[in-house]
Amino acid sequence: MLHDTILSAIGNTPLVRIPFPSQGRIYAKLEYLNPSGSVKDRSAYYMIKEAERTGKLKPGGTIIEASSGNQGIAVAMIGAALGYKVIITVFEKISDEKYKTLKAYGAEVVKCPATEFVEDPRSYHSQAVAIQKNTPNSHMLNQYYNPANPAAHYTLLGPEIWKQTEGKITHYFAAAGTCGTLCGVGKYLKEQNPNIKILAVDAANSFRATKGHPKPYKMEGIGIDFDNGLLDYNLVDEFLEVTDEQGFGMLKPLASQYGFLAGLSSGAVAYATQEYAKKHMGPQDIGIMIFGDSGRAYLSKAFAVETVNDFAQKDPVAVAVQRVARRIEL
Ligand SMILES: Cc1ncc(COP(=O)(O)O)c(C=O)c1O
Repeated sequence: MLHDTILSAIGNTPLVRIPFPSQGRIYAKLEYLNPSGSVKDRSAYYMIKEAERTGKLKPGGTIIEASSGNQGIAVAMIGAALGYKVIITVFEKISDEKYKTLKAYGAEVVKCPATEFVEDPRSYHSQAVAIQKNTPNSHMLNQYYNPANPAAHYTLLGPEIWKQTEGKITHYFAAAGTCGTLCGVGKYLKEQNPNIKILAVDAANSFRATKGHPKPYKMEGIGIDFDNGLLDYNLVDEFLEVTDEQGFGMLKPLASQYGFLAGLSSGAVAYATQEYAKKHMGPQDIGIMIFGDSGRAYLSKAFAVETVNDFAQKDPVAVAVQRVARRIEL
């Protein structure tokens, strides 16, 4: 197939079997094969198209987002392809690779201190809001609060998985970050077949998992730390909680035993799926896991460390990101 634009290359990622010890069959949806390298290409593109459709974003406009991660990179890539100016606010200690990736896509990157409260006017969220107010013809996507985020996955990823499995999927495993991927796909699948199990993979130290007594954790792209309104509890059959040690511990076997160089949230999803499948899946079952990004972004900090604690020294930003998110609710 010939693509006229990089944007039409978003999606249609392969489902690849991983022979985990289980009676059921487990497949990974390789979202790291999207053009900017993560599942966020889908939601960023959909949110931008929705903003255009509703007149919030007009030709010559500026897209603004607060993100030190995959969302910022996806927005920068799509903004470049569509001809929008893009401003991304990030933590000042953002990794060199991520900073350079944003710059390579032509985004303006505003570094902000890692504040304790997200309401602090110096926080990356507050600064994005302020920049948006002061920038004519601009729009902030605000992924944690934007219903177009789950709608993207309801419209694109859900039907894709349904079609690829010919309606035979029985279990869906996804990391819960903003919960857009979890609930967008979960809603679509439940509408097709209410017996499909929707399994949410959460960090064991998150605000939700600890019932309001969170502790620091080092995984990224995962963790329900405040009520953002996108999480629909009615769709979730079970929450599967994963510790840093368990999630990190999966990364090397995934790469060296199975050939999947996957990122931190994928490590957590793979661990949770493997444990769940051993106990609860039968020969007719088909489980689909979302692999949200690639291990390439974490080579030095996750693959090159021997213990999880080494990671905090290598990436203080990831730890700071979690701390800011948590304070929203407290
Ligand atoms: C790699 C990765 N996996 C999973 C997620 C979680 O997706 P969602 O925000 O839709 O819950 C994210 C979110 O940032 C991510 O970056």
